[in-house]
Amino acid sequence: MFKHKILLTEEQIQRRVLEIADRLNLDYADRTLDIVCVLKGGIVFLSDLIRLLHIPVRIHFLRISSYGNETQNAGTLNLHFSYVADLENRHVLLLEDILDTGITMDYLLKHLTEQKPASMKICVLLDKPYRRKVDIRAEYVGFEIPDHFVIGYGLDYQELGRNLRYLAILDPSE
Ligand code: PRP
Repeated sequence: MFKHKILLTEEQIQRRVLEIADRLNLDYADRTLDIVCVLKGGIVFLSDLIRLLHIPVRIHFLRISSYGNETQNAGTLNLHFSYVADLENRHVLLLEDILDTGITMDYLLKHLTEQKPASMKICVLLDKPYRRKVDIRAEYVGFEIPDHFVIGYGLDYQELGRNLRYLAILDPSE
């Protein structure tokens, strides 16, 4: 495994995921929530979060990638596939592992708004607000993190590390 240093422990993440779930349970009480999970990074967060929700939930998936290198979103996006059912009049939560430049979320918001949902909000585990290139803000944020390449809890380096139960900073030597 790549050399790395723990940034957020499993306990810290689980505690925060529970806090977010508590807020969602309140904010969407008496509603059904349609969660759109962006693959692949969002799956671990999604699976922990939905099991803490008491409200009715539908889940959808889509896969999108940029043509940039591993650390930089170049701004050209490719929507590979979308298992997103009809969102018209639904309360939609877009769920991501990390909000970085915001280019991916900006694209998805515009794309999914065409389906005329009743509401659409963003939920991310991690946020790097100082990296933003477009004006996007998430309503639900787990942690603001410093500008390091991070792996674990769904996030990868060269497709490895997603299964780590904690979040870690990749050693620059890698
Ligand atoms: C990451 C992350 C978001 C996007 C955020 O995806 O999961 O989708 O980058 O970056 P942005 O705010 O600069 O647009 P990545 O391309 O690494 O795919 P993965 O989730 O499959 O690892």
